[in-house]
Amino acid sequence: MMKTKQFLFTVFCVFPLFAQADEGERTYKDATLPIEERVDDLLGRMTWEEKILQLNQFTLGNNDNVNNIEKEVVKVPAGIGSLIYFSENPELRNEMQRRAMEETRLGIPILFGYDVIHGFRTVYPISLAQACSWNTDLVSRACGMAAGEARRSGVEWTFSPMIDVARDGRWGRISEGYGEDPYTNAAFCVASVRGYQGDDLASDKHVAACLKHYVGYGASEAGRDYVYTEISRQTLWDTYLPPYEAGIRAGASTVMSSFNDISGVPATCNHYTLTEILKERWGMEGFVVSDWDAVEQLIPQGVAADRKQAASLAMNAGLDMDMVGHCYDRHLESLIREGAVSEEKVNEAVRRVLRLKFRLGLFEHPYTEEMPAAQRLLQPQSKDLAERLAEETIVLLKNEGQVLPLQGFQPGKNTIAVMGPLVDASGELLGNWSAHGRMEEVCPIREAMQEEFDGKATLLFHAGCPFDGEDKSGFAEALETARQADVVVLFMGEKRLWSGENCVRSTIELPAIQEDFIRQVKEVGKPLVLVLANGRPLGLHRVEPLCDAIVEMWQPGIPGGRPVSGVLSGRVNPSGKLCVTFPRTTGQIPIYYNRRQSSRPALGKYQDIPSTPLYEFGHGLSYTTYRYGEIKLSRQTVREDESLTAEIAVTNTGHLAGAETVHWFITDPYSRISRPVRELKYFEKQLIQPGETKIFRFEIHPMRDLSFVDSDGKRFLEKGTYYVQVKDKRIKLEIDE
Ligand code: BGC
Repeated sequence: MMKTKQFLFTVFCVFPLFAQADEGERTYKDATLPIEERVDDLLGRMTWEEKILQLNQFTLGNNDNVNNIEKEVVKVPAGIGSLIYFSENPELRNEMQRRAMEETRLGIPILFGYDVIHGFRTVYPISLAQACSWNTDLVSRACGMAAGEARRSGVEWTFSPMIDVARDGRWGRISEGYGEDPYTNAAFCVASVRGYQGDDLASDKHVAACLKHYVGYGASEAGRDYVYTEISRQTLWDTYLPPYEAGIRAGASTVMSSFNDISGVPATCNHYTLTEILKERWGMEGFVVSDWDAVEQLIPQGVAADRKQAASLAMNAGLDMDMVGHCYDRHLESLIREGAVSEEKVNEAVRRVLRLKFRLGLFEHPYTEEMPAAQRLLQPQSKDLAERLAEETIVLLKNEGQVLPLQGFQPGKNTIAVMGPLVDASGELLGNWSAHGRMEEVCPIREAMQEEFDGKATLLFHAGCPFDGEDKSGFAEALETARQADVVVLFMGEKRLWSGENCVRSTIELPAIQEDFIRQVKEVGKPLVLVLANGRPLGLHRVEPLCDAIVEMWQPGIPGGRPVSGVLSGRVNPSGKLCVTFPRTTGQIPIYYNRRQSSRPALGKYQDIPSTPLYEFGHGLSYTTYRYGEIKLSRQTVREDESLTAEIAVTNTGHLAGAETVHWFITDPYSRISRPVRELKYFEKQLIQPGETKIFRFEIHPMRDLSFVDSDGKRFLEKGTYYVQVKDKRIKLEIDE
């Protein structure tokens, strides 16, 4: 006999289906109807089983994420909501999609997602590098290109951008985001969301974006991955949430919750962040997916006894889709029946998933056109863009005695020793999360340097030393090579999998063998240029004094050695500036420019090292020189509802054209909540010809740029004195009645 509850369940869920089907109308299939009506209609036809399947994501294809070894999915149910698609071509997708469209009662298309983080097959520089370009337009275009490659290959949803403010270089995932500053993360978040999503999600050029990892993941204790984070509500609001709010305002379709436990409540089941903030206050219309298996991981996190309770906690908190955890598919139905999860809650989650599928046009175009790879991937304009972007990400950290550019640093002396573990290790330049990027498609440093200096210099190559370990057998020969050269360029740094997920390091200094090699090369007495490729800020205090020049090339993706060779030769004038502070030592972590004010600013210093960082946020040299004028304000005093313009003139006083970024900071010396010493509020990059002066302007809207939030996110603006700051220039501004 059917129990009462089960009977009601059947009456409410299955009966309407037949009632409507009898009318012979399938209005959700009518593309002329508004999306909300189509969603209503479809929801009304679905059984609970069908609805619940929509809230799960499984995988399809060979898993290429080493951290997530998933058991083989023997038979993916055709009615599944979403799949992480590990294949590079549309065929497998179409085969699976055909099952969803033809073998299920309602023909609801599957949503195919994938980690298109810094490119799909054309791999662009890692995100940390991208932010050092300060060129949001290029970043947006790169995301647009990546979206096109992905969509043509069967993926319509990327798990990107990662906008976790990160201030601990030990945390490997610092490489995946845009650095230490909330405003910078917000600006690049908006740029990438626009690039991925374009104006029309249904076009075959765009994909849905996913803001991740919501929220506070970058605060992982001691840089260790997946662990606890201690984040006060105040810090949550003024540091970790702003990039997400900006992304939601820019229309990001989805959000991924993070692995961390935020002061005792895991992000996966955090009602405050998922429902109260994201959905209620910000009005997000899209859906929230968990991180990999994170619903199930509520058990080891210590808040759920079993998967069923984990499912209940997550769903009630506002987590819409369970990524591979098998908590929702196995337990939601009984949780509804038992009244632990409301029908309304589940319907709301399904509505959000369906809404995106309609917006993506999947009901009309469920299949991907099967084009040959050559037409889908690595188009010349995409490769070219990767190179332009990589050029702009390179940061010239030090250039004593103008040893760079190499061409002409000392006329007639043109033998260059090119050494270090990266010379032939081109695959390491791809960076982590390189999607379908291929190592053999990366331009090796050796090849790029040969091309760049062809006919202009003699290059002597030698790897010299390995990335790490004890093997110094190559040292002697390498030192001999250095002796024959006029200048030595060392390509050192990190392997690609030293950063990224689950790639944590206890120190951010270079491994001992690399430091030792640099020391020994220095003793040869030739000018020494250190070029670094890495996925985090490094602690360079021991090697910095040994080098005449230091170039941070990051992990550039497929352009590999080409952009940096252009910088070394002088073909490219470096314009990158740091989006993350380089500490002197690991012991200085956390160190970031926008720290809160201290009660005794002159005291509290380290006894053993200077308390300043080695390279500050915003640091980056050029081959030309700039003269900054004074900041001018259109008015000195403003009311809350007025605006004003700040401007500064920058003159290129050198002999080369250069692109200069001006960072505009605000300082609020007194406030009811102590503010950071400086906060970035705007930046702009402009190309300036030799002798030319460009005006940089910042339109200041007090409520947007001078206000602050309290610990519940309420924005307030106080009357009084503020300062507008660019480099060492600053000017006073008053907010009046
Ligand atoms: C990562 C996410 C990623 C997901 C899917 C997780 O392990 O934390 O960033 O999007 O896997 O691959």
